[in-house]
Amino acid sequence: MKTEQLLQSATQFGSPLFVYDADKISQQYHRLTTAFSKVERLQINYAVKALSNVSILKLFHQLGAGLDTVSIQEVQLGLKAGFAPPTIIFTPNGVSLDEIEEVASLGVQINIDNLSILEQFGTKHPNVPVCIRINPHVMAGGNTNISVGHIDSKFGISIHQLPHLLRIIENTDMHINGIHMHTGSDILDIEVFLYAAEILFDTAKHFKTLDFIDFGSGFKVPYKKDDIETNVEELGIKLSKRFNQFQAEYGRPLTLAFEPGKFLVSESGYFLAKVNVVKQTTSTVFAGIDSGFNHLIRPMLYGSYHHIENISNPKGKERFYSVVGYICETDTFANNRRISEIKEGDILCFRNAGAYCFSMASNYNSRFRPAEVLWYEGKGHLIRERETFEDILRNQIEITF
Ligand SMILES: Cc1ncc(COP(=O)(O)O)c(C=O)c1O
Repeated sequence: MKTEQLLQSATQFGSPLFVYDADKISQQYHRLTTAFSKVERLQINYAVKALSNVSILKLFHQLGAGLDTVSIQEVQLGLKAGFAPPTIIFTPNGVSLDEIEEVASLGVQINIDNLSILEQFGTKHPNVPVCIRINPHVMAGGNTNISVGHIDSKFGISIHQLPHLLRIIENTDMHINGIHMHTGSDILDIEVFLYAAEILFDTAKHFKTLDFIDFGSGFKVPYKKDDIETNVEELGIKLSKRFNQFQAEYGRPLTLAFEPGKFLVSESGYFLAKVNVVKQTTSTVFAGIDSGFNHLIRPMLYGSYHHIENISNPKGKERFYSVVGYICETDTFANNRRISEIKEGDILCFRNAGAYCFSMASNYNSRFRPAEVLWYEGKGHLIRERETFEDILRNQIEITF
C-alpha cells in the first residue's frame, strides 16, 4: 500500500488504526490456488482466528474460499458473511460436546481432535460425517508456543492411538469423511510439510470413505526486508504430484484442503499509531505511542517481529529507538530499532499487522479497541468503528452500596 493512503487513513479515521489491503489478500489467495492448480479438487479454508472482521470474511467468500473456525461464534460470523455451512470446517480444541453438537446441527463440517469426544459424538450421531485431527508428532513451527503437532502438544489424536481410534469408529459405525493435521505456524522448510504429509497419507489408508485430506497451515511469511518465506510454489509442485499419486492409489476422488491464516492476511495489514512522547533516558531513546500490547500483543506474547517505519518522516535521518506502549507493564514493541527521526505527533506504521493482531486485541487498561479500515478498489472503507466509553461499560452492572 502507498504511504499516502496510510497517512490519509490516519488523518480520516484517527489513531491507533488497523488498515488492510484487499488487493494483497486476493493476491495471496490466488498465489496459493495457482501453486496447487494441478490438484483437481482444492479447498482453501481461511483461518478466521487470524482476522475475523465480517467484511474480511465477505471478501474471502467473494474469492471462493471456505472457512476454518475454532468456536461457534466464528461459525456464526461465517454464516453471517454468507458462507454455506458445508464450506465451513469446525476445528475446536477442548470444547464441550454441546458446542460440537450445536455446530454440527448447523450443517458445518466437524473436526474432532480427541478420543473421548469422538466416542461420545459417534455414539449419539453415527450418521454425521466427521473429520479426524491427527497429531503426527512432528516438531514444526517458529517457536514453541506456535508448534502444535509435537508429542507434548494438546492438539490432535496421536498417530500411536490409531488402533483405539479405529476401534471407536468400528463400534459406533460413524462416518469419517476427512483427516486433518496442523503442525504449527511459521514453518519455513517445505520438507517438514512433505514429511508430515506422508504420515497423513499412511493414516488415510486406514479410512475407506474419505472425501478430503486437510494439511492445515503454517506457511511462513516474510517479516523483514529480504526475509525468507515458505516456498509455496515449490511446495505446490511437490505436494500436488504426491497428492495426485496418492489419490490414484486410494481409488476415490479426494479434495486437498489447507487452512491458512497468516499467509492470507498477515502482510495485508498495517497498524498505525501516533507518537505521544519521545523520551531520552541514560540508555536509550523511547518512542512512546498511543497504543500498547492491548492492541498488538504479538511482540510481548511470543517475541514476534513487526517492521516499524515512521511514515510521517520516511526520508529522515535514522536513529536508534525503543518503541514502547502506554500499558502499565513492560510493553515493548521493538528495541534498538533504526527508524527515521521521530518527532512527537508522527505516525508509526507496523507491518504484518493483518494476522493475530486485532483479533487478539483487548480492553486492558480500559482502553478502546482501535478502528479497522479496508482499502478496496482504491478507497478506504471503515469496517469497524473505534470503541467508545459505552463499549467499556457494556455488560457491566453497577450495584448500590
Ligand atoms: C488448526 C489451525 N489451523 C490453521 C491455523 C492457521 O495457521 P497460520 O496462521 O499459521 O496459517 C491455526 C493457527 O493457529 C490452527 O490452529
